[in-house]
Amino acid sequence: MHPPIKKIVLPVAGLGTRFLPATKAIPKEMLPVLDKPLIQYAVEEALEAGIEDIILVTGRNKQVMEDHFDHAYELEKILQEKGKEDALEIARSMLLEEGRISYVRQMRPLGLGHAIWCARKLVNEHPFAVALPDDLIKGKPGALKQMVEAYNELGGNMVATMNVAREDTSKYGVITPGAHSGNRIAVEGLVEKPHPDDAPSTQAVVGRYILQPEVMDHLNKKAVGAGGEIQLTDAMAKLIGSQPFHAIEFEGQRFDCGSKIGWLMANLSFAAEDPAMADQIRQLIKFR
Ligand code: UTP
Repeated sequence: MHPPIKKIVLPVAGLGTRFLPATKAIPKEMLPVLDKPLIQYAVEEALEAGIEDIILVTGRNKQVMEDHFDHAYELEKILQEKGKEDALEIARSMLLEEGRISYVRQMRPLGLGHAIWCARKLVNEHPFAVALPDDLIKGKPGALKQMVEAYNELGGNMVATMNVAREDTSKYGVITPGAHSGNRIAVEGLVEKPHPDDAPSTQAVVGRYILQPEVMDHLNKKAVGAGGEIQLTDAMAKLIGSQPFHAIEFEGQRFDCGSKIGWLMANLSFAAEDPAMADQIRQLIKFR
């Protein structure tokens, strides 16, 4: 039996420069795909995987996210008075029991690894999951559930991966693959944003992880890596060899909603599956 995954860290403190000016006053994780903000998709995916404690690493403009997961008394009262029961139910749908969502502040955006390190006191001595909400994954079951199921058998550390074109390896963390078993791949090495000529494979890490608490010891060193940032990939790489480390080639479709094209494609893809919109969307795409 491996210790269960009950906590997740959701880093939401990035600057979101690729989405300016939309992200000037709101975090990019509040951008909606159809009618739901990205952060809500991530929390729902975590709950589906049986995760209980949600830890948000926030930066500037955090208040709007706290509000999203809290009562909106004025709105709820008005909806009640107007008898808008359906809208009221939606407005209340993301109210978790008090104490299950915690917020910790990353005071300077020094990189993803640094954001995760900011949650060390809340993670404590437990293995934990990480999801980057701007990596939206459409999967049934969700990517986190697929990973938690694999973790329950294999233990250790885990990253979600997908096969990318070789010219794109410089946008991702990339694994050195070892033995395969179905969609599970032993990880023998990890490198952040390798040049296509140097990439050890085309299996790229996307924003879902299961990590052992020892990763915090390596993040504690605050080593600066690719792009001048404290990289999670570098700290994870240090665990390889001393703890089990696997990649899960997840089933599902991933959208990079930190980029305009990825966000747009996510909207189209979700809309095409919504009976209320599917016909219009399909016609629009055909028409163009
Ligand atoms: P990105 O690499 O997408 O960076 O972060 P970014 O700053 O958010 O966006 P751009 O590149 O300027 O457009 C990946 C994830 O890591 C979080 C982000 O919020 C996102 O979920 N992150 C990144 C932090 O929480 N803190 C950081 O210092 C950096």
